Amino acid sequence: MEKIIALAKRRGFIYPSSEIYGGLAGFWDYGPLGVELKNNIKKIWWKNMVYEREDVVGIDAAIIMNPVVWERSGHVSSFADMLVECKSCHHRFRADKIEDNTCPDCSQKNNFTQPKKFNILTEVYLGVTEPKQKAYLRGEITQGVFVNFKNVVDSSRIRIPFGIAQIGKAFRNEITPGNFTFRSREFEQMELEFFIKPDEKEGKKWFSYWKEKRWRWYINLGIKEKNLRFRDHKVDERAHYARYATDIEYQAPFGWSEFEGIHHRGDWDLSRHHLKYKDLNSGKDYTPWVIETSGGVDRAALFFIIDAYFEDEKRVVLKLNPKLSPVKVAVFPLLANKNELMETAKKVYNLIGGSYLTAFDDRGNIGKRYFAQDEIGTPFCVTIDFQTLEDDTVTVRERDSMQQKRISIDCLKNYLDQSLLI
Ligand code: GAP
Repeated sequence: MEKIIALAKRRGFIYPSSEIYGGLAGFWDYGPLGVELKNNIKKIWWKNMVYEREDVVGIDAAIIMNPVVWERSGHVSSFADMLVECKSCHHRFRADKIEDNTCPDCSQKNNFTQPKKFNILTEVYLGVTEPKQKAYLRGEITQGVFVNFKNVVDSSRIRIPFGIAQIGKAFRNEITPGNFTFRSREFEQMELEFFIKPDEKEGKKWFSYWKEKRWRWYINLGIKEKNLRFRDHKVDERAHYARYATDIEYQAPFGWSEFEGIHHRGDWDLSRHHLKYKDLNSGKDYTPWVIETSGGVDRAALFFIIDAYFEDEKRVVLKLNPKLSPVKVAVFPLLANKNELMETAKKVYNLIGGSYLTAFDDRGNIGKRYFAQDEIGTPFCVTIDFQTLEDDTVTVRERDSMQQKRISIDCLKNYLDQSLLI
């Protein structure tokens, strides 16, 4: 993990939030490369979930909602962690994280209070005059979908079975943020709420369907299958809304860790919000069931980086799927002090630069420039050398194989488009 954290900071993927003031536990900022990686994940997810399906539409709901939403959804009463307090140092910890009944901070043994529930919704106060109105930052993006269920049905042609997709920030007052961005207090979720008829067979069918779909999505984007597993929730660990649930876990350096949950929420949410659906054929009202896929954008970004990390005695490479790579192509003039090379390199940069994020680097020796791009996962480097000035060809070097091809400038854009599948 130290190598991943150092690389993330050094190359501009992830920084501690407000670092110049000592940071703030559980908050992270994404730098120039991190924001590209996250945007790529979100774009690919949205394309897969919304553009490629006739039965899913998207929404973008507000982060702060009427607080009644959270009472009805059950989050005010049950969205809690079981905590124990060390009677010696008075620090609080999640009860399930205590090993050998020993305090992680002061090492006292067998000196904890009984486990007690603490709500992890983040409170905010609205208005400028007292008493201010108490509200919550959303603890899951999901409720914004449920409270808009009727709006979406009434304003679109979508009919059951159908889904509503959303991507956005969620906030949890986590007691023990940690493992880099893995457990943060502010994070982003990408979720699908898929509404179906309230029927056991339908529930099983769609639950298996979405489990498989989401598993394949990660594999298709390059996560090694050996590093993934499903883990079904035991009855006593299910969220208050879940009839049954399974996690997709990744074998992280800190152990198997959840990064997406597939939940059968039954009619929990819609019935708590008193929302129903009218079947157009029978004219009857019923409360649909919901199968949910809930992924974390930050955890996906972290695990894509970890899974892609490769090093040998020569170089460090992020073998990211090119669709995820922040920078797609780097353009190098072989020598910076030769005007003709610089001019042609700039022309090549302008030729491809508008289509995808392209880097231009004229510093240091060419080998070092290649390695600097390998470290951030850039799939292709294009070098303009003396032969370019004679025959208008450039070398294109591929990241993983390090093989180089000569390609004419006329064909370069087409070649890169094909190779990057963009
Ligand atoms: N709507 C259902 C829901 O929120 P969850 O299992 O609590 O379910 C879904 O969260 C996903 O959100 C997790 O699998 C994880 O990827 C992400 N997530 C949850 N808490 C997180 C945290 N503290 N930091 C980063 N990501 C988190």
